[in-house]
Amino acid sequence: MTQPAKPVSLPTLVPPSAEFAAQANVSGMDAYKALYDSAVTDPSAFWGNLAETELDWFKPFDKALDWQPPFVQWFTGGKLNVAYNCVERHTKTARKNKAAIIFEGEPGDQRIITYQELHRLVCRFASSLQQLGLKAGDRSIIYMPMIPEAAIAMLACARIGVTHSVVFGGFSAEALKARIQDLEAKVVLTADGGWRRGKEVRLKDAVDEALKFCPTVEHCVVYKRTGSDCHMEAGRDHWWNVLDETAREDVPAAELDSEHPLYVLYTSGTTGKPKGILHTTGGYLLQAQMTMKWIFDLKESDTYWCTADVGWVTGHSYVVYGPLAAGATTVIYEGAPDTPAFDRWWRLVDKYKVSIFYTSPTAIRALIRQGDHWPERHNLSSIRLLGSVGEPINPAAWEWFHRIIGNEKCPIVDTWWQTETGAILIAPMPGAVPLKPGSGTLPIPGLVAEIVDHAGNPVPDGHEGFLILKTPWPAMLRTIWGDPERYKEQYWSKVPGAYFTGDAARRDKDGYYWILGRVDDVMNVSGHRLSTMEIESALVRHPAVAESAVVGKPHEITGQAVCCFVTLKKGITDHDKLGLELRQWVAHEIGPFARPEEIRFTEALPKTRSGKIMRRLLREIVTSHTVAGDVTTLEDMNVLTSLSAQHDED
Ligand code: PRX
Repeated sequence: MTQPAKPVSLPTLVPPSAEFAAQANVSGMDAYKALYDSAVTDPSAFWGNLAETELDWFKPFDKALDWQPPFVQWFTGGKLNVAYNCVERHTKTARKNKAAIIFEGEPGDQRIITYQELHRLVCRFASSLQQLGLKAGDRSIIYMPMIPEAAIAMLACARIGVTHSVVFGGFSAEALKARIQDLEAKVVLTADGGWRRGKEVRLKDAVDEALKFCPTVEHCVVYKRTGSDCHMEAGRDHWWNVLDETAREDVPAAELDSEHPLYVLYTSGTTGKPKGILHTTGGYLLQAQMTMKWIFDLKESDTYWCTADVGWVTGHSYVVYGPLAAGATTVIYEGAPDTPAFDRWWRLVDKYKVSIFYTSPTAIRALIRQGDHWPERHNLSSIRLLGSVGEPINPAAWEWFHRIIGNEKCPIVDTWWQTETGAILIAPMPGAVPLKPGSGTLPIPGLVAEIVDHAGNPVPDGHEGFLILKTPWPAMLRTIWGDPERYKEQYWSKVPGAYFTGDAARRDKDGYYWILGRVDDVMNVSGHRLSTMEIESALVRHPAVAESAVVGKPHEITGQAVCCFVTLKKGITDHDKLGLELRQWVAHEIGPFARPEEIRFTEALPKTRSGKIMRRLLREIVTSHTVAGDVTTLEDMNVLTSLSAQHDED
């Protein structure tokens, strides 16, 4: 990552203030250590006790942990329901009239939905799904803007046991189609469109395009958000509000196995085909809820805002399931941070008195660039805790977040986790663990992490290596949808008996973890995971392209940017026009967020003698503009010379 122009000096250790520690859910290192030790000594008893006290069960579980590596089951024999735990149970307490969701649309429309009202809306939509014949075990795709109905759709599916897969609204029809097909979904839940930077993102058009190739889909439900014209296919498409006219409110929560599939979320892997990460019910919910209390130090009076989209795992665990299970008030904002101006987020913090604010380093960097006057116009004193996720937080971003947004009084919880881990795994309990800016600090109770070398042997503290996890955790992915072999191969074959994270990291002498980034062909662009292979496959589908190799290039705002090396078929020479066209092509094939920053045309790509593209060399060229690494397996040295020379001409 590009370092900031102005070096910032940060404190090396930031202990919790006495004031924060005094009110914290977990206060002092001894308390953290006691939790950690008790979980590591007897994970079944530790998590089993929490599951009994923190979740509501229709039937108690027989066994807390069943670990048959690499397959895990938590709370077997138990029956529960996620929507019951996230919504209905709160309606039986003093929380019933508490705001569950505070929503603001990009145009400025506002809705405050209490737990009672949310329960009513979830039941009504669950009833609409039942009217369409949906039942436990069926699969749905949710392709929605960031509006309360996205959460309502997720919860309604959970209430009747339909396994959902949310597809980020920024994905194209092509990407949507691939996910619907892989999941063999029966229903698509969408909207006419949503608002982003003052323009309508037309979701239903993309759905129509995708559904031409998805024979498993029987129904499509469309929520009217923008009110613009959209095609409705007779027999297949239904308006949400029309179904609602005959909806019932007495839909019982299905009593589901603890291991019932709650959702599948597709994420980029190291091949062109996205992986459907499967999360189930009891373990996932428990860890999402507990991390709200431990890491976000959630209190009854908090107003909590995580800026992630529900299309990503952060939106699942920390906009919807975690906060609602914990009975929090969760803020949902539909649009862009710069609309109508760069102070939109700070305006919202001030207006709704947000007390916990969770976002990504890429967003922080983009906002720093716009100047301090934007946040300074607003009263941000309601904030008491800040959080960061998605990539390592660089010193300049940490310093600004701490000083300008947190007024130097708020802890910053740097949370390391992945789509696969389901919930936070390495992060500070802010009233207990002293922060070290840039480090995710220490693991959650019971998690044993290690740093190893290529052979799987632990490396000494202070040395760089691969981050692996040696113990199962409740929100762990259960498999890759429909492909248990890929699950075993991807995560459990690199180091026998351990989960391979794909991240490089080091542990310091205090046991703190420092994440250094991906070691596989996965890029991290604006905190979104993109696979080099997925973009390469998209590029070679273009008729002019012969071959392509894609690498992540350091970028000041987005962390990494997509840089594509492309060789063309014979006779094609109009590079300028084609460069633009190919960027557009990738946006169309995958989604606008995957649009390459740069297309470099080249005569040939560096390859090994066996014909494998050496992306490592290309990475070196875009990162350091030289190649210092081992080139002994390179077949044709001339390729390298011409690629490096090409850069010199830039
Ligand atoms: O490389 C790590 C990085 O994001 C990857 C996971 O991406 P994804 O599945 O899209 O989930 C993102 C949100 C949980 C990780 O393998 N990453 C995530 N959080 C951090 C991070 N890197 C450093 N520090 C973090 N706090």
